[in-house]
Amino acid sequence: MLSRRSFLQTTGTAGAAAFAAFRNEGLARVQAAGHRAAGAAPHEVASDEHYWREIQQAFTLDRTIINLNNGGCCPSPRVVHEALKRYLDISNQAPVYHMWQILEPNIETVRRRLAAAFGCDAEELAITRNASEALQIAQLGIDLAPGDEVVTTNQDYGRMLDTWEQRVRRDRIKLTKVSFPVPPESMDVLADRLLGAITPATKVLHFCHITNLTGQIFPVKRICDEARRRGIKTVVDGAHAFAHFPFTAADLGCDYYGTSLHKWLLAPIGTGFLYVRRDNIPALWPLTPANEKKASDIRKFEEIGTHPAANHNAIAEAMSFHEGIGIERKSARLRYLRNRWASRLAQSSRIRIHTNLDPAHSCAIGTVQITTVPTSKVVAQLWDRWRIIATPIVHAEYEGVRVTPNVYTTIEEIDTFAGAMEGMAKFEV
Ligand SMILES: Cc1ncc(COP(=O)(O)O)c(C=O)c1O
Repeated sequence: MLSRRSFLQTTGTAGAAAFAAFRNEGLARVQAAGHRAAGAAPHEVASDEHYWREIQQAFTLDRTIINLNNGGCCPSPRVVHEALKRYLDISNQAPVYHMWQILEPNIETVRRRLAAAFGCDAEELAITRNASEALQIAQLGIDLAPGDEVVTTNQDYGRMLDTWEQRVRRDRIKLTKVSFPVPPESMDVLADRLLGAITPATKVLHFCHITNLTGQIFPVKRICDEARRRGIKTVVDGAHAFAHFPFTAADLGCDYYGTSLHKWLLAPIGTGFLYVRRDNIPALWPLTPANEKKASDIRKFEEIGTHPAANHNAIAEAMSFHEGIGIERKSARLRYLRNRWASRLAQSSRIRIHTNLDPAHSCAIGTVQITTVPTSKVVAQLWDRWRIIATPIVHAEYEGVRVTPNVYTTIEEIDTFAGAMEGMAKFEV
């Protein structure tokens, strides 16, 4: 282990110059705000604008735009972005030494911390570049014979559906996509739709922990337990779930889980992880082949060739920032922001909210439609007139504007969005 002194000697001037950045103002502000809010319940802190102002100040944003598409990918807090830049600077001195020998081994710290937060063993967690890569390792790595069936939904993520469709063409497997109501009146509907589609040929169930289209949370444990009882593997798409609302692996009971870290964890862009239940590791083929000796090692899924260590190492700073707020407090704030616009817009007869607002069903993500105006026009107007970024969701069965705030979003930004929507609904643009 290097002492701080020998580390600075090793890394030379770039390391010494970067030392000033180690005095971490952003993190200190989060911690100071946390001290002030200590003892208050998460739902009380959710509306404490003094507390959230400190969090908002930890980001370097362009406040001339209102970014309500944090579901795509998020800006990192200053502390994370500085770590990323610092690690890149250090790497660039002599990458074969500074990146491979000094920085890369520290991926194990990141693995350990992510596993602790997710509630699995570190030996079950591989660090990936995004949720797509994590999920595709599972989707393409499971042995399936012609005629074997995968059951999923028609509201799963496009790329993940494309991945299964490719296996249909290449391996002649069968893909069944079930529909479900939006919003569903109960969790039972979701479990019943998926479990009801199982046939003797079904080998895999693939579904979202929380969908990107409307933010619908699924009864993951119920579905996974039943699938396991029937000998069926479960691939859960958690791209939007980790660090968004509280849960652990034990609450899920799935075989494979893939998530992004550049969404709700606010880690650098190009980060994600894959969880593989320990007994599934040896039989799962990596996407990029690894030596046979690594067959039972979770690290076989990280054999991607030369890549920056900076991105995955700066996840550690994102974890510290996230833990400084705390998942209970964060999810309470995200629901508070979502409810602020949703409860206001729900008053209009021309507005339909496609997200079930029950806290068990959803958190920050909400999808809303002005029934009298095409969604593409609503999204264009939000940008042209108010500089609000939101995502159009156009599904075969419904459409609307997806709204995803994050911890840095201000009340004024939420209210501007709600006012803009009310205006458009009233006058029809
Ligand atoms: C439900 C869902 N799955 C998978 C992904 C892919 O995530 P990434 O872009 O991190 O690969 C996304 C991205 O938005 C998503 O919403």
